[in-house]
Amino acid sequence: MRRALQLGLIILLLLLLQSAAPRTSVAATAEENFRWFCAQCHGPEGRGDGVNHTPDLPVQPRNLTDPKDVGQFSDEEMVATITKGGAVNDLSAIMPPWGDRLSEAEIRELVRFIRGLCGCQFDPALKSAAQRAKPPGSP
Ligand code: HEC
Repeated sequence: MRRALQLGLIILLLLLLQSAAPRTSVAATAEENFRWFCAQCHGPEGRGDGVNHTPDLPVQPRNLTDPKDVGQFSDEEMVATITKGGAVNDLSAIMPPWGDRLSEAEIRELVRFIRGLCGCQFDPALKSAAQRAKPPGSP
């Protein structure tokens, strides 16, 4: 009888503890995903100065706070680059693919987050200017 009472008290205590525990969401915010997966190259603030960035890299991680640069990419281009890697948009394969690790919704949130970093939207004029600036035959 006493044992049963003790057991009952322990269970009650466990239930109380469980309900008092803070409810945490498993879904990471775009900012958390950015800090975790992107900041080592693009930098904690997105300025292209992460710890993996060295002058030796043949292609530098982009400064995602630069509206003139980020403005040349449409949302769909950014989604494709982040999902499948830079090579998909004729960019450097140093930009890795994330489609196996992040869901499409998370990638779209990241694109919204990057739009916040640059404070810019897609500008077709910037895109054609960037294409004209490429030397012929370069990727
Ligand atoms: C290993 C380093 C590295 C990591 C990690 C990395 N990037 Fe990049 N990223 C690059 C490089 C280098 C480029 C430039 C490619 C080029 O210009 O040819 C780039 C380019 C980009 C571009 C611009 C190109 C476009 O088509 O829009 C976006 C946006 C971008 N990265 C987002 C991200 C996001 C979001 C993450 C994290 C999920 C991430 N990157 C992680 C190296 C990296």
